[in-house]
Amino acid sequence: MSTHDLVKDYYGKQLQSSADLKTDACCDLASMPAWLPPLLGNIHSDVLDRYYGCGLVAPLKLEGCRVLDLGCGTGRDVYALAQLVGASGEVVGVDMTDEQLEVARKYQDHHSEKFGFANTQFLKGYIERLDELGLEPESFDVIVSNCVINLSTDKAAVLAGALKLLKPGGEFYFSDVYSDRRVPTEVAKDPVLYGECLGGALYWGDFMKLSKQAGFADPRLVESRPLAVDDLRLLAMTRGIGFFSATYRLFKHECLEPECEDYGQAVIYQGGIAGAEQVFVLDTGHTIERGRVFPVCGNTWLMLEQTRFKEHFTFIGNFDVHYGVFEGCGGGLPYAQSFDEQGISCC
Ligand SMILES: C[S@@+](CC[C@H](N)C(=O)[O-])C[C@H]1O[C@@H](n2cnc3c(N)ncnc32)[C@H](O)[C@@H]1O
Repeated sequence: MSTHDLVKDYYGKQLQSSADLKTDACCDLASMPAWLPPLLGNIHSDVLDRYYGCGLVAPLKLEGCRVLDLGCGTGRDVYALAQLVGASGEVVGVDMTDEQLEVARKYQDHHSEKFGFANTQFLKGYIERLDELGLEPESFDVIVSNCVINLSTDKAAVLAGALKLLKPGGEFYFSDVYSDRRVPTEVAKDPVLYGECLGGALYWGDFMKLSKQAGFADPRLVESRPLAVDDLRLLAMTRGIGFFSATYRLFKHECLEPECEDYGQAVIYQGGIAGAEQVFVLDTGHTIERGRVFPVCGNTWLMLEQTRFKEHFTFIGNFDVHYGVFEGCGGGLPYAQSFDEQGISCC
C-alpha cells in the first residue's frame, strides 16, 4: 500500500471521530483564545467530531483575506476561518480523502446559511501537487494547515507549492508535529504511528533547513506544546523521542535574511487588530505592547511593514546602517518542554 493510500485509509475508514486518536494531539476548548469558541459553536457537530488537528491555525487580521487550507479534512478550520475572512474573503480547502471531503461538502450550504454568506470551496487533490488544482499563483494571502504536512512523503514539494501560491508578503501559518531527533525507520514505517502523525514528524532542525531551502528564509515559532502518546504499544515504540505540536508562521518575502540582522530599527504597535487590543504577538520571541517602542531586527521589520499588519504599526528606521547580528535570536530546542510553558493554544 502506498503512503497516500495508507493515510487515506486511516482518515477515511479507520478513524470515526477525534476520540479514536491515540495521542493527545487534539487539545481542549479551555486553552483557546476567548474569540474562538463562539466561532466553533457555529460549526456543525459532524464536522467538529472529525477534527484531527493539533494546533490553532487562525492568525489575526484575516478580514477580506483569501485563505488556503492544506489537508482540510472535514473542514473545521475552513469553516472557522470563513467567519474570520467574512463575506469579502474566501477559504479554499484541499484534501485527498473522499470520506473527509464528503463531510466537508455536505455542510457547505448549512454553514453559508448560518454565516449569511457563501465563501468556502473544497477541492480534491494532493498537497504535494498543488499546481494540478488550477489555482492562480500568488493569489492567497494566507495558507494554513493543521497536522498534515508530517503525513506527506514530499515535504519539500508542499513548501515549494505553498510559496508559489502565496502573494508577496503573505504567510504560511500552520501547526504540525515535530520531534526532538530524527525519527528511526522502525517508527516511521509503523502504519499506526504514521497515521497518528508521529512516524512522519520532522526533526525540528530538518524542518528549519527545509523551509529555508524552499525560500522561507526565517520561520517563526508561534506556540508549541509536548505531545503525550496514550497507547502503550506506541509508547514503547517511541520511548526516548520527544514529540511536539508546534505552530509556525513562514512569511513570503524575498528580502528576508538567513539571520536576524540589526539595523537599529524599531516599531510601535498602534493597536486596532481584533484579538490583539493591547498586545500583538508575532511569535514566541516578539510580544509587542501597544504604544511601546520595540526594537526589531530587519526581518521582523519586514514581516510587519510589508504585510497586512503594516497599518497597525509605526516604523522607526531603515536599512541604511548595519550594526551586526541582532542579539538574542535562535539556538537550542525551541519548544515548550512542559504544559506549563505552553502559550495560547490550540484546538
Ligand atoms: C490529521 S488529519 C487533519 C485534518 C484537518 N486539518 C483537521 O484539522 O481536522 C490529516 C488530513 O490530511 C489529509 N492529507 C494527508 N496527506 C495528504 C496529502 N498528501 N494530500 C492531501 N491531503 C492529505 C488527510 O486526508 C486528512 O484529512
